[in-house]
Amino acid sequence: MSKPNSLVIVIFGASGDLTRRKLMPSLYLLHKNKRLPPHLAILGVSRTAYKDEEYREHIREELSHFVKPEEVDEAQIRSFIDLLYYFPMDPANADAYPSLQSRLLSLDALIGNQENYLYYLATPPSLYGVIPQHLKQVGLNLDKGVEKKKRIIVEKPFGYDLESAIELNKIYKDAFREDQIFRIDHFLGKETVQNILALRFANSIFEPIWNRNYVDYVEVTAVENMGIEQRGGFFDGVGTLRDMVQNHLIQLVALTAMEPPMAFNADSFRDEVAKVYQSLTPLTEEDMNEHIIRGQYTASETRKGYREEKNVDPLSRTESYVAMKIGISNWRWSGVPFYIRTGKQMPTKVSEIVVHFKPTPYRLFNSPEQKSPMANQLIIRLQPNEGIVLKFEMKVPGSGFNVERVSMDFSYSSLGELPTEDAYARLIEDCIQGDPTLFTRSDAVESSWQFFTPVLTFWKEHPEIPVYGYPAGTWGPRESEAMMHEHGADWTNPCKNLTNTDLYCEL
Ligand code: BG6
Repeated sequence: MSKPNSLVIVIFGASGDLTRRKLMPSLYLLHKNKRLPPHLAILGVSRTAYKDEEYREHIREELSHFVKPEEVDEAQIRSFIDLLYYFPMDPANADAYPSLQSRLLSLDALIGNQENYLYYLATPPSLYGVIPQHLKQVGLNLDKGVEKKKRIIVEKPFGYDLESAIELNKIYKDAFREDQIFRIDHFLGKETVQNILALRFANSIFEPIWNRNYVDYVEVTAVENMGIEQRGGFFDGVGTLRDMVQNHLIQLVALTAMEPPMAFNADSFRDEVAKVYQSLTPLTEEDMNEHIIRGQYTASETRKGYREEKNVDPLSRTESYVAMKIGISNWRWSGVPFYIRTGKQMPTKVSEIVVHFKPTPYRLFNSPEQKSPMANQLIIRLQPNEGIVLKFEMKVPGSGFNVERVSMDFSYSSLGELPTEDAYARLIEDCIQGDPTLFTRSDAVESSWQFFTPVLTFWKEHPEIPVYGYPAGTWGPRESEAMMHEHGADWTNPCKNLTNTDLYCEL
């Protein structure tokens, strides 16, 4: 796999949030670090009527907000901005595509490219199905030899449910081959998410205990301390199950639970991910009633409630929080619950996986803190303060025989400077090189939807199922605590005592 000599990157949704916050800063860093093809143009496409110069000014301004100060290099910013071009069009309008094609050909002539294009769909999901069909109509989908490749990156959520995901896969396969299609889940581009694989498969000590015989339960948490910011219009129609759970969280479950791939290549790795999805234990109505908690943040002293956010229905029942208990029906994991949760407006931003090992069979020593037998935990911290923590018991120095919980703490940054480029940069670079390993394959998307669609249907058919309010800035509905208590456990919260139980209500 190698980098092409020339390329035009076409960003649909060029005036949107993702483009300014993530894509342009990532492309800038790739440019600064000389990781992009030498002959390059980036063509922004959206409905806003910018001229090239106006678009460049707009992006220059946005970069000043979203590139870290230590990464700003004025000469590099200028040369990056010079790579930008803009084409105003409505991507839903088929008639606009012949002009897009002409514009691309003129850019080709300008930079010495030969129809080597990478399309990035950073648009609202309603356009994901339309754009590939229109590209196909004008032949902009066809690979024409080694230096005339076409690749397409499409954002999540890929589909709205199982049926629409199948339909979308059909549309994509009709226009492109699978190896041209890159379904992005940016969690997979995070260094520390990839590090789960290193931890599990580059070490031999974990494998013998990584199964139902030694693991009691697993927690997967990805919470944020922000609300939905300016994304109300998108988020209110989507909700957390589609925005975070069906892709990012289940991806983390897959990496924790998968079997070792035969080799680290796209097929073997994605085969194992797909197998985990296929093994998820289908949810019964009882599970959906009792083991899925959805919540929505309400106003607190310092933060707005979800329903007060811009472009949100004031009576919205869209969930901004989901906690659920899931199972994996296979030899390794049968009977081990995976508790997953994600929410907005939590007390902090943290993503981590906690593997709770089974307790000692009998409590031999006294522990001032713990009454029950002791259990070890392995915490894989994905962000922030990336690292691994192993918790175990040690004797307290001095007379008597008391034991105390201690931590062995590895910080990922101790290996050297962490890469400054973020997950998007890594994934865009992989796509440019034609490496689909860290992108989601069509069968995995469908299996994931197959598992989650019954939840969406159940919520739709049972409006009486509660959406629990939780005050912004707390750890989510107390019902999710109750779900953990059933297991005799508490969620592992990095900071406790932030909940004010009087503020909870049902919406
Ligand atoms: C995105 C979701 O995919 O991931 C957002 O659409 C969420 O709602 C974001 O905020 C979280 O990603 P990260 O990398 O900031 O943890």
